[in-house]
Amino acid sequence: MAKVVTPYQDQDRSKKQQVEQMFDNIAPTYDFLNHFLSAGIDRTWRRKAVDSIATIQPKVILDLATGTGDFAVEALRLKPTQVIGGDISDLMMAVGREKAKKLNAADVLSFQRVDSENMPFEDNKFDAITVGFGVRNFENLETGLREMHRVLRPGGRVAILEVSQPKTFPMKQLYYIYFHFILPMVGRLFSKDIRAYTYLPESVSVFPEGSDFVAILNKVGFRSVQFRPLTFGICAFYTCEK
Ligand SMILES: C[S@@+](CC[C@H](N)C(=O)[O-])C[C@H]1O[C@@H](n2cnc3c(N)ncnc32)[C@H](O)[C@@H]1O
Repeated sequence: MAKVVTPYQDQDRSKKQQVEQMFDNIAPTYDFLNHFLSAGIDRTWRRKAVDSIATIQPKVILDLATGTGDFAVEALRLKPTQVIGGDISDLMMAVGREKAKKLNAADVLSFQRVDSENMPFEDNKFDAITVGFGVRNFENLETGLREMHRVLRPGGRVAILEVSQPKTFPMKQLYYIYFHFILPMVGRLFSKDIRAYTYLPESVSVFPEGSDFVAILNKVGFRSVQFRPLTFGICAFYTCEK
């Protein structure tokens, strides 16, 4: 069985409870640190991912594990009629709601509490689902992916982005130094949570990636599953269909 890594290594609380608390803690600094620590490349990744669902011209989109809503905001350029940002962290979504208001997009983009493993939506509701850097945090990965399959309509498309570990020299070595030493230090300086940016590399190191994750997507019923490493393999980009 895969090793379970939790934010606070607290035996008395579930991974989900700890993840919710961690993201509530880092919500005010999340966007700044995200763009700073990735040198802004995260925006390019989300753009690519949204391009991949554009082919089916989705009208109703779920951005699961939406956090502060950057993926959901990016999806607005496809001119959908409804985008729902779903997450378990209310404080992350509070930042997202402000963005929707500022963009005058609150009539199309709304945020609601959604647990990926038990979603409050009917079968086949969505034309497309995006998940950015969220699946690694699910308490039960397969349950979350099965739920995504359930709420996606037949022919609907999914785009998933996740942090991954480069495999080749010198990116592998540089990544190790950056992720295990520099990132936790900068994270500690700017965010209110000393564990969050240590949990990040720990959780990445035990998460199934590449062909392993493709196998799980196939197992839960998705088809046309594709994987592409982005930016020397520091980001994994998966697409699939129902
Ligand atoms: C790293 S953030 C990603 C935010 C955003 N998608 C992005 O691209 O920046 C991960 C998010 O996943 C959410 N999350 C973790 N487990 C979840 C679950 N079971 N259901 C819904 N959201 C979850 C967290 O609360 C957090 O906001």
